[in-house]
Amino acid sequence: MTTIAPTLDLTSPVSEWILDTPARARVFERYGIDYCCGGKKPLGQACARRGLDPSALMQELRQTGRSSTAADERDWTHATLTELADHIEQTHHAWLKRELPRLVALADKVNRVHGRNHSWLAELQTTVDAIAAEMQSHLFKEEHVLFPLIRRLEQGSGPGPMPVNGPIRVMEHEHDQVAALLEKNRRLTNDFTPPADACNSFRTLLDGLRELETDTHRHIHKENNILFPRAQAAQLAVAGSAT
Ligand SMILES: [Fe+2]
Ligand SMILES: [Fe+2]
Repeated sequence: MTTIAPTLDLTSPVSEWILDTPARARVFERYGIDYCCGGKKPLGQACARRGLDPSALMQELRQTGRSSTAADERDWTHATLTELADHIEQTHHAWLKRELPRLVALADKVNRVHGRNHSWLAELQTTVDAIAAEMQSHLFKEEHVLFPLIRRLEQGSGPGPMPVNGPIRVMEHEHDQVAALLEKNRRLTNDFTPPADACNSFRTLLDGLRELETDTHRHIHKENNILFPRAQAAQLAVAGSAT
């Protein structure tokens, strides 16, 4: 049987545009469109929010076809839940644990040196510190509570269907909080644009914050739009087969 992919248009949620074509995430990143926490918004609404021409963007998304998926990134919609949880921990979580201490130290240094000329750096440092603190506890909860539940659910081990809905709701709420802080970084830094007097540390900080936004959007997209809904469906299936 041939599966026909749903036709996507301006009323389709942003996240659906990249479910089986992850390369399109780069298009959204280029235009500052949030496809993870804001992924449920229709494409037309997301364009209006960023002041973009919806037809031009839709054309660009359509031209970014499935052929580039393999080169860009694996299509995770067909992986097992365990494979996806392992991948998230080994790539995105590991990257954050390496990168966040560096960004916290850089934000502190740049604010000390340049804060007098750029008063917004104090707020930026507070925001970076808040992201680091939020992420530290968030990653711990995923790695020690939710992801083990999801793996056990898939393996059919444990004392029965494990309730994943509660922890998922908490994680999604925390994703919204981090996404708001990332948006604040973008606003404070004028889309990560270095001022004319920026030294190398200043530029490195802005580059790092841009990368933090990109990686975190991909990370949250894989959780909110692929891992979590599939885990909830798996739980429903287990509950259904037990009755
Ligand atoms: Fe995560
Ligand atoms: Fe998460």
